[in-house]
Amino acid sequence: MPVKVGMVGAGSMGSNHLRVLSDFDAKRAQLVGIAEPVQAVREKAVNRFHVAAFEQYQQMIEETKPDLVVVAVPTNLHFEVANYALDTGHHVLVEKPIATTLEEAETLIQLAKRRSVHLAVGHVERFNPAVMALKQLLAQGDLGTIFSLHARRLGPFPPRIRDVGVTLDLATHDLDAMRYLTGEEVAHVYAETQQRVHQTHEDLLLGMVRFVNGALGVLDVNWLTPSKVRELTVTGERGMYLVNYLSQDLYFYENDYSPTSWDALRSITGVSEGTMTRLKVQKSEPLRLEYEDILTAIEQDSQPTVTGEDGLAVLRLAHQLLSAMHAGKVIQCMVPIR
Ligand SMILES: NC(=O)c1ccc[n+]([C@@H]2O[C@H](COP(=O)([O-])OP(=O)(O)OC[C@H]3O[C@@H](n4cnc5c(N)ncnc54)[C@H](O)[C@@H]3O)[C@@H](O)[C@H]2O)c1
Repeated sequence: MPVKVGMVGAGSMGSNHLRVLSDFDAKRAQLVGIAEPVQAVREKAVNRFHVAAFEQYQQMIEETKPDLVVVAVPTNLHFEVANYALDTGHHVLVEKPIATTLEEAETLIQLAKRRSVHLAVGHVERFNPAVMALKQLLAQGDLGTIFSLHARRLGPFPPRIRDVGVTLDLATHDLDAMRYLTGEEVAHVYAETQQRVHQTHEDLLLGMVRFVNGALGVLDVNWLTPSKVRELTVTGERGMYLVNYLSQDLYFYENDYSPTSWDALRSITGVSEGTMTRLKVQKSEPLRLEYEDILTAIEQDSQPTVTGEDGLAVLRLAHQLLSAMHAGKVIQCMVPIR
């Protein structure tokens, strides 16, 4: 039996979801309905995907009886829609960030548990093949100790996003990627922001996070740069990896030689430039892999890769960065005891 999918929101990201979903084998996933209040947007989706469409998500869910509800509405509506879908016994894939407040995120996680359904969060960079390849290299120790991670997520202002600033909208991608790549929680955070174009929220973030193992993460994120940049570097004992999230390219800039320990290198000359390699990455659309993951979780009753708890942890860090900015001081994070 295919997993029946209902889509709530057919805007910019919703239409990506619809395109990816419609490419699945009908034996595996079947799009059964769309909910979208804006008539022109709804009609465009119907013309393209030939599926039942509704103005109200409650009616779509009631009439089309999906197994999985995908939530691709503006962030300030994630909670309302996901809460309804979970409460009525549906699996949910909610776009990032999981919700606007921590209380909302916690409620969704508890509700999914009570209803015994899966809750996955659309932190799609987790499924970026370059990020997955880098995770494997780091996990097998190819870089040695990680010193720092630096994310640059820059681009022009998207006028449609009015409900949240860059920290919740964009930095959450990199916070999730950094947690995943280091396998560590954050000990403390600091941030500065600016609001230059956005009416109500910050549109530039310079954030810093310190992981429990000492690795430092820098978040350089804005909606003020004319060209789109999506990059992450990870620097460690043996050199530096560079991920281009957009092209899914992964490079390794090797130190001139690999000493047996960082102390041995430091005592001689410091680092110098060695070979640069572009690693082979099997490219694939991350959103397609995100769907493979949630479908497998439903089919096999296993945990999705990006859980509600991951979504909550990332949302908490985003709020802590904003609190640090408002308070003008470093914020200590509650780190789970290991
Ligand atoms: N994972 C990613 O890389 C990524 C990229 C872009 C956006 N997003 C996320 O996707 C979500 C949507 O963003 P977007 O850029 O598509 O915004 P958008 O404004 O283009 O689309 C949102 C759509 O939701 C519709 N909507 C509003 N209220 C609704 C309701 N009650 N029921 C059904 N539909 C409703 C709107 O009419 C609109 O068409 C946001 O949470 C955003 O953070 C994720």
